[in-house]
Parts: sequence; C-alpha cells; structure tokens
Amino acid sequence: MDIFDRHKQFTAARVAIRAGIYPYFIEIESGQKQTVKINGRKMIMIGSNDYLGLALHPKLKEAAIKTIKKYGVGCTGSRFLNGTMDIHVKLEEKLASFMGKEAALVFTTGAQANLGAIAGLAGKDDIIYADRFNHASIIDGCRMSFAETKRFRHNNMEDLERILAAADPGKGKLIVVDGIFSMEGDIVNLPAIIKIAKKHNARVMVDDAHSVGILGRTGRGTAQHFGLEKDVDISMGTCSKSFASVGGFISGSEEMIHYLKHNARSLMFTAALPPASVASISAAIDIVRAEPWRRKALWINAKFMRDGLRSMGYDTGASETPIVPIVVGNDSTALMMRKQLFDAKVFTTPVVSPAVPKGRSMIRTSYMATHTKKQLTYVLEVFNKVGRKLGVVSGVPAAYYERKKHKIELKARVRKGKAEIKKKIRNRTEKIKQKMKNMKNEPER
Ligand SMILES: Cc1ncc(COP(=O)(O)O)c(C=O)c1O
Repeated sequence: MDIFDRHKQFTAARVAIRAGIYPYFIEIESGQKQTVKINGRKMIMIGSNDYLGLALHPKLKEAAIKTIKKYGVGCTGSRFLNGTMDIHVKLEEKLASFMGKEAALVFTTGAQANLGAIAGLAGKDDIIYADRFNHASIIDGCRMSFAETKRFRHNNMEDLERILAAADPGKGKLIVVDGIFSMEGDIVNLPAIIKIAKKHNARVMVDDAHSVGILGRTGRGTAQHFGLEKDVDISMGTCSKSFASVGGFISGSEEMIHYLKHNARSLMFTAALPPASVASISAAIDIVRAEPWRRKALWINAKFMRDGLRSMGYDTGASETPIVPIVVGNDSTALMMRKQLFDAKVFTTPVVSPAVPKGRSMIRTSYMATHTKKQLTYVLEVFNKVGRKLGVVSGVPAAYYERKKHKIELKARVRKGKAEIKKKIRNRTEKIKQKMKNMKNEPER
C-alpha cells in the first residue's frame, strides 16, 4: 500500500467545506483584539486566549520593535548552542520571580515546554499519571518519555488514588495535570492531588497554560489560587495566552531547571524564541503586575457570560473560569451553530468528536478583560436566537435583550453626559485661572 492513499480517503473536511460549514483555518484580516475583521466584516471574537487583552497593546509592540532594532529578528540557533541571548536569561529571571520559583527555563512554544519537561524528566523506569482531559502536548510528552503512562478519569481523585496505590513503590512517579482544563474550563482539584502525591511519594507538574496571569492573587496560576505554591514541583506556562505572544516556560527548583537545560530535547534541538517575542513577554509581565484591574474585569465578564448562557438553558458543563464551553449535542449541531453565530458576526470555535465524546460536541467560548458589556450582551442575544432556532435551548424572551440593550445605552448616555459636564467645568476653570493670571500680570495704573 502507498501511504499517500490515506489522503484520498480523508474526506470529512472536504464534505464540510462543500457544505459551507467548515470552521477551521479562517483568515483573519486584522490584529487580534475583542473584535477582528474577517471578509471585511467586523466580528466579536470569543474564541481567543488573549484573556487580558494585550495582543495589540502599544507597550508590547513598542518593546518588540525596539528589541528587533537591537537584536534582529531571529536567534539562528538553539538555546543550547548559539541561541541564548542576554534577554532570554533576563526573561527567565523575571519569570522565576513572577512565578515565585527558584528558576525558569524559556522554550520556543508552550507545547515544546511540555514535551521537553515531561520527556526530559521521566524515563523508562518511571510512571506518569495523567488526567484524561490533559492537553495534547502533555499526551505527546508522555509518549516521547518511554515512561509507562496511566491516565485517570477527568479530575477524579478516587481513580487517581486507586491507580497510584497499585503502583510499584520503587518506581519514580509523576502526576501531570492541566491547571485550568483548556476545553472544559474547570479547575483541577489540586489540594486532593497534592495530598495523594505526598502519600505515594509522587512529584506534581501543573500545566498552567490557561491560568498564568489570570488565576491566583497575583496571577501565578493554580497553585497560588489554592495556596499550594510550595507543593507543586513543576509549573509549566505558555506565553501565548495571557502574555499574548508565543513561547513557553518551565519553572521550579534550580536543580531541576539545570537538569532540563541539558536533557530537554525540545529545547536543545530547536531554534530559540525570537527577540521580539522575548521583549513582548517581558512587557506583558510588567502590565500583568501593574494592572490587576484586567484580571478583575476578566472574571466579571466570564461570570456575566456563564450566568447569561445558563439562564437561557445552555449546558456550560463544569466551567468556572473564562473558558466557557457550550455543549450542544452532536457534531452537525455544533458545526451549524458555529456557522450561524459566524453569520451573525460572532467568532467561536467548535470542538467535535473525536476531540470530545460523541454527543458532547461543543462551542468553546473564552472571554477577555477588554470585552465591553455591550459586546457581550450582543453575543448573548445572538446565542439566544441561534439556540432557539436550532432547538438547543428554549431561551429567554427576545424582549429581555431589548431591555438590557436599552439599559446599557442609557448608562452610556449618562456616562457621556457626565464626561461632557466635567469637560465643560474643566474648560471653565482653566479660563478663570487664565483670567486671574492675566490680571496679576497686568501693570497697575
Ligand atoms: C493546556 C495547554 N497546554 C499547552 C498548550 C500549548 O501551548 P502553546 O500554544 O503556547 O504551544 C496549550 C495550547 O493551547 C494548552 O491549552
């Protein structure tokens, strides 16, 4: 058989393209913010991981441009050989301090950080325990590691305890979990995991791709959220979500990072993160530290959407974060719904089987600190219309959104009115001040 025969047999995507419901590789003609331009139309983006709304931030762009001018556009080699610049080392120090760990190591992508850390740390005499809903790059890291991998039911601590208890006590053990699960939007039961890990002498690695910057008092992620920072051995993060760039990192003890520098193949055998990305990540960390309002606004927006969707009857699963999945049933309903949302200028991403079990296909939505109430109310109104049309939910009366929109408009008018009055007062005060100054300067007659 010719292995290329498979290409002809792969027809599912072509069928969806012909039916006009293909949802992937959509061309976006603008930068990524809470709105994007597609086919010349402005759309509301609720499928992005730019949780804090930084992708087009002037300070990030400025930092990238300035750094390109000094260091150029690429590193032309791996971190291990000629690709480590002083800015990589400075960023690692900054990341370690941001995460509250001894050291950090920067990879070219988050996926590579997972591959390198898992395959670098676990070997043929070890066992890895992985949640069934972990990200694909964790699964790949396990496969590459030569360790035996055991998967436990999603966030099910009895299952984890059961399989760990049956393990050979002489083997090295690593538990790997997502902090916030990327599709379901729920948070891992870290307190129970730490307890079980201590009991069975296992190490714990948390993939904080979706939690760094947004979860915990200062944005350190899942461990900080639960007050367990000292108990997590390996914290992985990406720079492609709340840091709005590209890149990944591992943070932990100096000893572990030193070992990974010499054993993580996805670090040693690939080109280093380009200077522009290094600079924009560093600027993003400064903003995350200086502007906690972004985190607050994000969680307010997420709750607003989850409550709104649930009130219409949508199944949002176990979501408790800015990732809000909407479970709609079979694949075709998810694809049809995505298309109708898209036609109404709302950008979402469908997740269909085999990525999810049959009958649990979903529209994955995620929210940003910078979405306005007006934008989110419009999105809810569209979901209400589309869900009712497709028979997914019974929804709420359309008049509900008319009233909500009216209220938002009134509030905006009041805000605008207040701003105008303030401006008038300011101008008047300025004029009076100027007059008094002039009077003082006038020579006495
Ligand atoms: C949980 C999780 N881990 C790792 C990654 C990989 O990160 P990156 O896209 O930065 O390579 C992702 C990306 O979506 C993710 O969701």
